[in-house]
Amino acid sequence: MALDAAVASGLAAIAAAGDLEELKVVKSAHTGERSPLALANRAIGALPGPQKAAAGKAVGPRRGQLSAAIAARTEELRAAEEDRMLDQERVDLTLPIGRRQRGGRHPIESIQERIADFFLGLGWEIAEGPEVEAEWFNFDALNFKPDHPARQMQDTFYLAGDKNLVLRTHTSPVQARTLLEHGVPLYVAVPGKVFRTDALDATHTPVFHQVEGLAVDRGLTMANLVGTLDAFARAMFGPEARTRLRPSYFPFTEPSAEVDCRCMMCGGKGCRTCKGTGWLEILGSGMVHPNVLRMGGYDPEKVTGFAFGMGVDRLTMLKYGVDDLRLFFENDLRFLMQF
Ligand code: DAH
Repeated sequence: MALDAAVASGLAAIAAAGDLEELKVVKSAHTGERSPLALANRAIGALPGPQKAAAGKAVGPRRGQLSAAIAARTEELRAAEEDRMLDQERVDLTLPIGRRQRGGRHPIESIQERIADFFLGLGWEIAEGPEVEAEWFNFDALNFKPDHPARQMQDTFYLAGDKNLVLRTHTSPVQARTLLEHGVPLYVAVPGKVFRTDALDATHTPVFHQVEGLAVDRGLTMANLVGTLDAFARAMFGPEARTRLRPSYFPFTEPSAEVDCRCMMCGGKGCRTCKGTGWLEILGSGMVHPNVLRMGGYDPEKVTGFAFGMGVDRLTMLKYGVDDLRLFFENDLRFLMQF
């Protein structure tokens, strides 16, 4: 019977369709308007009444059979397509990734930031000042006498054409600036670049970095200075760090002290880094000189202060055991990438 043949060839074509595109073509050929079953269906209308029912019973279920087969095959093919996509788009988590090299912080900069962070943690403020500084702030305001040797041309970069301007030789002029701008209580840390006419060698560069500290308040004593710097040394070099003070001289502090930290290379036994002494100088400090307080408009009978200044480059060398300062500025990535 022709209808059975149409169904059989339809089912065969449906089964043979390899993907949804092919199935669409099969569907239109076997169930579309021109398909044998559609034509047979249309012909029913023209049959005499009594034959209509029989013809309907012959055509209808066969059309249903093909539609069902198409629906089932559509499902199968869709599932297969989905499997294929999942398989193709699978991510292999074990593949090595293409690591991009990223830039990093310069070790001196990150140590400078760590120092500033420590003082921020104590509730201090961070202040900055100009690198091109008035000679007055760099020296006079800090109680340097006019004939002080540090002013000499061989230490200080004076600006050509203006003998009153220098490249600041230390961050201490920011002490003078903050004293003039601020009231008490005053607690500031000042990170920054400083300049001296030093020849380049393993421990000197004409540009280097300092962090200055200044605290002015009622009733501050040397004990506050020692406690603060002890805590700083432990934050920087670990809980084992020990400090000691040696009397020294700075024009802007009285008394003045140099602070040593027990050598972190040898633990105090004595080595090449500490030249056998077991101690390393890490900063200069003292109680703010009454003349400096008066310059800032304070009465040294009412308030006192302590101050300190540390070399960041030197601390970075000590922290990482680097013995030549020049390595930090040659920008050899093999060196810098270790930090
Ligand atoms: N300004 C000094 C220097 O560059 C370091 C210093 C010493 C800073 C004692 C201070 C201080 O604030 O109290 O050598």
